[in-house]
Amino acid sequence: MTDCPWELENLGCRTTEIRLNGANVNLDELKQVEQRSNYVVVKVPAAYAREGRVLQENGYFFAETQLKIERDLSSFNCAIPEDLTLDYITSEDGLQEVLESITPQTFVTDRIALDPSFGLDVSLRRYRNWMKTEFACGNPLIRLVWENKGVGFMMVKLVDSNMDVLLHAIFPPFQGRGLGHLLALAPFVLRNKFRQLKSYSTRVSANNPAIIYILTTHGYTITDACSVFVKHLNNTEVQ
Ligand SMILES: CC(C)(COP(=O)(O)OP(=O)(O)OC[C@H]1O[C@@H](n2cnc3c(N)ncnc32)[C@H](O)[C@@H]1OP(=O)(O)O)[C@@H](O)C(=O)NCCC(=O)NCCS
Repeated sequence: MTDCPWELENLGCRTTEIRLNGANVNLDELKQVEQRSNYVVVKVPAAYAREGRVLQENGYFFAETQLKIERDLSSFNCAIPEDLTLDYITSEDGLQEVLESITPQTFVTDRIALDPSFGLDVSLRRYRNWMKTEFACGNPLIRLVWENKGVGFMMVKLVDSNMDVLLHAIFPPFQGRGLGHLLALAPFVLRNKFRQLKSYSTRVSANNPAIIYILTTHGYTITDACSVFVKHLNNTEVQ
């Protein structure tokens, strides 16, 4: 269970996240969490239908399925287009440019964007705040440059030999032209710089068939799925 104080600024409500890994839903514990929260998020392995049913009987709504996608980076035998280069952003101005290239229409498939209580503007604020935090922690923010134009970005966390992609996108003016495939190729360019990298991981919403198509086309595999349930609470005394 995680209290998420950062979501107070992002979402404007006190948020708690619970991840059930094999454990049953503990309704007493859930009630206690609900008393101190305005928004509760419960992530359940997708196969746990019983847990999902218990949550729905207790006022939780199904929000999305989250997929984990992984790939071994040592096996890749396609040519990487020469027109693709990576620009490692190190300045606040560079960060600002990327943040401004993300609009409310960029991330439209996640549980926050799709929730009528939040919506696209709140989702955008949350993503921007998240990126600022990760950038401040020193995690690489990389602009994808195609034919000398910044067409997208990746926010990455490098842990030992794994690159975990926290967030990635093609900027809206460049979408729909086949450039989405660059998000699957860029990790191999990154590996040329960081030779210790052996594996890739990311999480995507099952509501986003385009990124699933792109990654699986390039040998990335769906390795895990979890169902996400949410409940909004009107605890006026909690803020
Ligand atoms: C998802 C995203 C990367 C796709 O890039 P894009 O530029 O819109 O898509 P492309 O034009 O490159 O299309 C690439 C392929 O995906 C396919 N595709 C596009 N939308 C699709 C959909 N809804 N379902 C299945 N395939 C789809 C295209 O047909 C194309 O296939 P092809 O190469 O075989 O012709 C881009 O829309 C994006 O960045 N979106 C916002 C952020 C995001 O969702 N990030 C990923 C998760 S954090």
